[in-house]
Amino acid sequence: MAMAIWPILMVAMVVAAAAVSDAADTNGVHQPCADTKIQRSDGFTFGIAFSSKNNFYNDQSHQLSPCDRRLSLSSLGSQLALFRPRVDEISLLSINTSTFFPDLNGGYMVAFAGRKYAARSLPAFVANSTYTVTSFTLVLEFQKGRLQNLYWKRDGCASCSSKSNFVCLNKQDCAIRTSSCKNRGGSVDCSLGIQLAFSGTDKHLMALNSWYEVENLRQYSLYGLYSNLKNSLTSQYNNFF
Ligand SMILES: *[C@@H]1O[C@H](CO)[C@@H](O)[C@H](O)[C@H]1NC(C)=O
Ligand SMILES: *[C@@H]1O[C@H](CO)[C@@H](O)[C@H](O)[C@H]1NC(C)=O
Repeated sequence: MAMAIWPILMVAMVVAAAAVSDAADTNGVHQPCADTKIQRSDGFTFGIAFSSKNNFYNDQSHQLSPCDRRLSLSSLGSQLALFRPRVDEISLLSINTSTFFPDLNGGYMVAFAGRKYAARSLPAFVANSTYTVTSFTLVLEFQKGRLQNLYWKRDGCASCSSKSNFVCLNKQDCAIRTSSCKNRGGSVDCSLGIQLAFSGTDKHLMALNSWYEVENLRQYSLYGLYSNLKNSLTSQYNNFF
């Protein structure tokens, strides 16, 4: 199994969920390169791989899942973060960048899960030596409980339009200068925050609704919901700028 020899970033975690379910987790699959079918409130394991954009493609053209050995991401020094959020609970994932520097690890990330039914997101720009993007929204779309698609949802820089120290990259990503980050000459904690949302249906054809909530909450940003992050990810921006 390719995953077993892959170095795992221990700094990744599900830092908060909007509601903590007491329903049982019935999904016994705990590794990302395997297939499963979920029901609401199950745990679901997926990975995010960091590498340069080209490393996610075979022959420069066809994007493969990071689980596919043809990419040999582990031998290319790619870093892997693993998460197990609860399905249909809005969650905020965090990757601490105090010892992990995305720009020095290829600068792009791909979210993925599954083997025979492999799904992967497009590569998202995270950082280079000039800019770092710290805030993302990832949608996991299921049909009848099977993961079909993962995609990055952008808000066209709406969340940083009034903040002068953010730069809007490619009309889609709010970025700060990498030189503003801690350990890089600045004072901002540039840890990555990834808001998760679920859409589609579970294996009992129950609708997954958290996507709807994210759409409605977007203008306020979910970070505000997570009091334990108040002093790390967001309010520092207010303090700093
Ligand atoms: C990242 O880790 C450092 C060192 O452990 C800690 O001081 C910092 O608060 C962490 N940042 C976040 C966003 O959790
Ligand atoms: C960093 O990324 C931005 C946005 O994609 C790009 O405009 C810039 O040229 C890049 N800088 C370097 C040093 O690669």
